[in-house]
Amino acid sequence: MSAAPSHAQSGSTAPVGASTNSESLVATAQKRLLGNYRQASFVLDRGRGCEVFDVEGKRYLDFAAGVAVDALGHAHPVLTKAIADQAGRLMHVSNYFYNAENIRLADELCAVTGFDRAFFCNSGAEANEAVMKLARRHFYAKGDKNRVRFIAFHNSFHGRTMGSVALTGTPKYHEGFGPMVGAITHVAYGDLSAAKAVMGADVAGIFVEPVQGEGGVMPAPPGYLAALRALADEHGALLLIDEVQTGMGRTGKWLGSDHEGVRADAIALAKGLGGGFPIGAMLVRESVAGALPPGTHGSTFGGNALASVAARTVLRVLKEEKLIDGARDRGVDLSNKLTKLAAEFPTVCKAERGLGLLRALPLADGIDARVVLTALQRRGLLLTIAGASALRFTPPLIVTEAEIDEAVAMVADVLSDVQAGRLAAG
Ligand SMILES: Cc1ncc(COP(=O)(O)O)c(C=O)c1O
Repeated sequence: MSAAPSHAQSGSTAPVGASTNSESLVATAQKRLLGNYRQASFVLDRGRGCEVFDVEGKRYLDFAAGVAVDALGHAHPVLTKAIADQAGRLMHVSNYFYNAENIRLADELCAVTGFDRAFFCNSGAEANEAVMKLARRHFYAKGDKNRVRFIAFHNSFHGRTMGSVALTGTPKYHEGFGPMVGAITHVAYGDLSAAKAVMGADVAGIFVEPVQGEGGVMPAPPGYLAALRALADEHGALLLIDEVQTGMGRTGKWLGSDHEGVRADAIALAKGLGGGFPIGAMLVRESVAGALPPGTHGSTFGGNALASVAARTVLRVLKEEKLIDGARDRGVDLSNKLTKLAAEFPTVCKAERGLGLLRALPLADGIDARVVLTALQRRGLLLTIAGASALRFTPPLIVTEAEIDEAVAMVADVLSDVQAGRLAAG
């Protein structure tokens, strides 16, 4: 007798419906969600500014901000209203037709970043895929069909699709998914001679993050991006910058690469671009824009009117509320306070690092970052972990000094518990 299909075996219970109880919701999550994430044991329900609340009403200060996504915090009234108004007007018409909001967004994004043209999609991985396809097809269209290889970096992160995961120079993300999309050479980040050593006439582009975000918040050494620009130029290759985490003001300038005054041939954006509404983009220079003529690339949802309004509103609020200068200034404040913490708890953490409001406090060797993260959640602070064991701080760009003080005080409490042996994290 053949086995019954698995959906019949799994049985079914009444849907969780309107339950507002963490325990029953988490039980259903553990049964019905795929299980590919390591998720906290509470269920978030609403937010305002830099705060979120779980279904039981417990308050958390949100310094994760959806992993550097919620630039304007939660429920920003201007963004909320713009999305609601647009939803009642026009959401989606497909890319067979222009929509006015998307045209305006492209124009405004090019104006603030200095790029010439935009392609829209839905996520960071998808933006990186577009950049990879653009680079290969640029050389194909020029008749230089051997230029297919990318130079990328150890410890990088570019996403989870087959192309972006292959670009990602961190083996744990490859395991079990091989064979990887080919012709990608990974070298040490920050080591110019390593990139030079693998440069060749078959290289389409150098693909780099201005700060390796997921890799532990590792800023590029001074002058490195400019040197990669020069290396690419010298060999006729493109410089392709992944600004998914560093873009849209997160580091205190519009783009992470603006700190070095380096202009890529193409960049990938996502995360903060929609302030929580899913949208990604590839911005390109005119010199490569012809590589993807009609029919070569696309995305059903990419640049729809609703996502475009969200991104336009984020752009406008970033400017009106001067949030990019704010990210720079609050970044200095957070950096100073984390530096003090590192001095106070030298056996538990190491020197902080980062750029603007993308910062990390690395924990000392042997300290389990997940234990610290969970203890912080219990106290009411949400952070993420980057790299092997660094606490990553990516608060909304609207964060205040008082909120930074509150967050740092909670971190100090937990680090003091670890140092005094009251919390076993070793
Ligand atoms: C630098 C960088 N590139 C790409 C991605 C992938 O973005 P997404 O998860 O939206 O596909 C991320 C996500 O963390 C990222 O940090």
